[in-house]
Amino acid sequence: MRVLFLGDVVGPIGLQAVETLLPSLKERLSPHLSIVNGENASKGRGLTRADYNRLKGAGADVITLGNHFLDKKQISSFIDDCPDLLRPVNSSDYSKGQGVGVYETSAGPIAVISVLLPAFVQNKVDNPFEVVEKLLPDLPPVRIIDLHGESTSEKQLFHHYFRGKCSAILGTHTHVMTADADIKDGTAFMADVGMCGEADSIIGVDPDSAIRRIIKQDGAHFHCNETGVSLLCGAYLEIEANGKANKILPFRFLDHKEIAYEPLPNHIVAGLD
Ligand SMILES: [Fe+2]
Ligand SMILES: [Fe+2]
Repeated sequence: MRVLFLGDVVGPIGLQAVETLLPSLKERLSPHLSIVNGENASKGRGLTRADYNRLKGAGADVITLGNHFLDKKQISSFIDDCPDLLRPVNSSDYSKGQGVGVYETSAGPIAVISVLLPAFVQNKVDNPFEVVEKLLPDLPPVRIIDLHGESTSEKQLFHHYFRGKCSAILGTHTHVMTADADIKDGTAFMADVGMCGEADSIIGVDPDSAIRRIIKQDGAHFHCNETGVSLLCGAYLEIEANGKANKILPFRFLDHKEIAYEPLPNHIVAGLD
């Protein structure tokens, strides 16, 4: 089966990019399930009902969250009504909603789990290794984990611990795509799939507001611009019915156009310049 996964949607530019590109990506790739991380969709922090509706309208089947899941308090008023909206499964001090879901598709059921890793985040979380290990026996073979965390080594540790037991472990939260897409023991992995937001930014935040807040410390808030050039990042997966992944293809769209890194030159003779 085919799965499409988009990284953290950040602010209005990210939302617009998903609305523009996700329908055409779905037409091109015919995914059985499309998963979008929406933790920063509403002005960079959290998810409102209106922006949940926008992501659903764009074609997201499942929306995952992360450490910012409670930044828009209104989520507590609707998360229980939305089985396709997943907050971190190991949120130890929050009982509304759910962090794992099994979704029926035309090719069979797919489980999705939202996991929050503890390093460098302020949320209270239960041990993610113990929580996920307890869940796995009750899930169908095709299992996708949104692994939300800051630390690359922590993500690699999680991957090594659970590889062979999940179809894909896809990192989110850092908003910067890593060049480490791989499949080991049938588990596809990327430390981070990157974001959907403003391309010329500080992980989706307007650079001027970040300079004011962090360097000048004048009390400015982080701000996401309404207009600008977008970057949309994600990964496409192919998974066998037994849960083993056999393909992971990261993708990036800059200003709505698909981009790849330039190939290296074949041969450079040192010392000629
Ligand atoms: Fe994020
Ligand atoms: Fe995050």
